[in-house]
Amino acid sequence: MGEFVPINRVMLRNYKSIGFCDVRLSPLTYLVGVNGSGKSNFLDGLHLVRDALNGSLESALNERGGLSEVRRRSSGHPTHFGIRLEFTLPSGEQGHYAFNIGALKDRGYEVQTEECVISGRGKGPFFQVDRGKLRATSEPAFPAVTADRLALVAASGLSAFRPVYDMLAAMSFYNLNPKVMRELQKPQEGRLLRPAGENIASAVGHLERVAPDQLRIIQEYLQTVVPMVQGVERKAIGPMETLEFRQDMAGSKYPWRFLAQNMSDGTLRALGVLVALFQGNRDYAPTLVGIEEPETALHPAAATALREALVRASRQTQVVVTSHSPDLLDDRALSSDSFLAVVSEAGETRIAPLDEASRKTMREQLFSAGELLRLNQLAPDRDVLAEQLARQPDLFGEQP
Ligand SMILES: Nc1ncnc2c1ncn2[C@@H]1O[C@H](COP(=O)(O)OP(=O)(O)OP(=O)(O)O)[C@@H](O)[C@H]1O
Ligand SMILES: [Mg+2]
Repeated sequence: MGEFVPINRVMLRNYKSIGFCDVRLSPLTYLVGVNGSGKSNFLDGLHLVRDALNGSLESALNERGGLSEVRRRSSGHPTHFGIRLEFTLPSGEQGHYAFNIGALKDRGYEVQTEECVISGRGKGPFFQVDRGKLRATSEPAFPAVTADRLALVAASGLSAFRPVYDMLAAMSFYNLNPKVMRELQKPQEGRLLRPAGENIASAVGHLERVAPDQLRIIQEYLQTVVPMVQGVERKAIGPMETLEFRQDMAGSKYPWRFLAQNMSDGTLRALGVLVALFQGNRDYAPTLVGIEEPETALHPAAATALREALVRASRQTQVVVTSHSPDLLDDRALSSDSFLAVVSEAGETRIAPLDEASRKTMREQLFSAGELLRLNQLAPDRDVLAEQLARQPDLFGEQP
């Protein structure tokens, strides 16, 4: 394809409702499926990797209610969950990072196996750690490892593994909440928008300083979505800060100014989505941006602008979104390769590319993905699902 897809393949085992999945991601991936099918759980698997690398594995698990809530509940009582991500580094090198987390008898957890391989084992840097013991590595010296932490955090001190750490720790995930975007916010680090938009004033202020061109793109799309809004900037209010919007008013020579507190849900959410998508700049760019239901609170007529924004952003930053919006997907030019269909069968999530019937319909541009979604016809490919289940590989080593 020639496009740069940083995170190109994801395998999850026993992660929440997901028994096993093995899927490839595109520059822009849409996850579609009915309520409760497991779309958010899939994104959360990636989010956990990021949280565990940025903070600690323990807090990443605790935030989610502990290992017992994260690993899949089923009659088979799986005692561990596992994640494998295959990636392409900015240098062009390919690799994978994988780990299994298991329960200990005394309610604790341990990293059973963790592996990072760049350019194939023996060809580039690699390490493998089992239960706090370094089994193998390409490096002459390796930092101390323990079973309750991910070794990649310690290994990020080595230049060989730093690019993997930087890449995975820079994934970011959004479920924007206009209520928290409306509140006065404490000035904070605005390099990266936080998950609900709780630092959006700082994020916009940061872009004003370091990337005004990106902010201009954001404002242009915002105006397409909400034509009255002329612009937005960070505004200090005593020790706090918020956003100030400029809005056209009939009969008024100068635009009116509104603080975030008085802006509409749809405007705030749209701004949040746009900042999430276009916040990347020369200093710092997220590797992958995951957004929950970007269409929420938007009028159907705004869908075209939002879709264009997603496509444009995905040229710079990999994007994964969940969506229930036929309007957002109502474009016959959307490739069926961009979709993953998520279904739940007897409480177990399965994820695969669209089935051949949907792909053919879309290829021939008979129906758009949005029209198929309205007809409830975006189904996963049964053959791929069967093949996934038959193969059930472990998450380590080289994979076909
Ligand atoms: N540890 C677990 N084991 C098994 N199932 C789980 C576990 N944790 C959550 N689930 C199930 O996952 C489902 C929710 O999945 P998820 O939130 O990913 O759905 P979704 O596709 O995002 O839905 P929506 O479109 O409504 O947001 C729930 O039905 C819940 O029972
Ligand atoms: Mg969800």
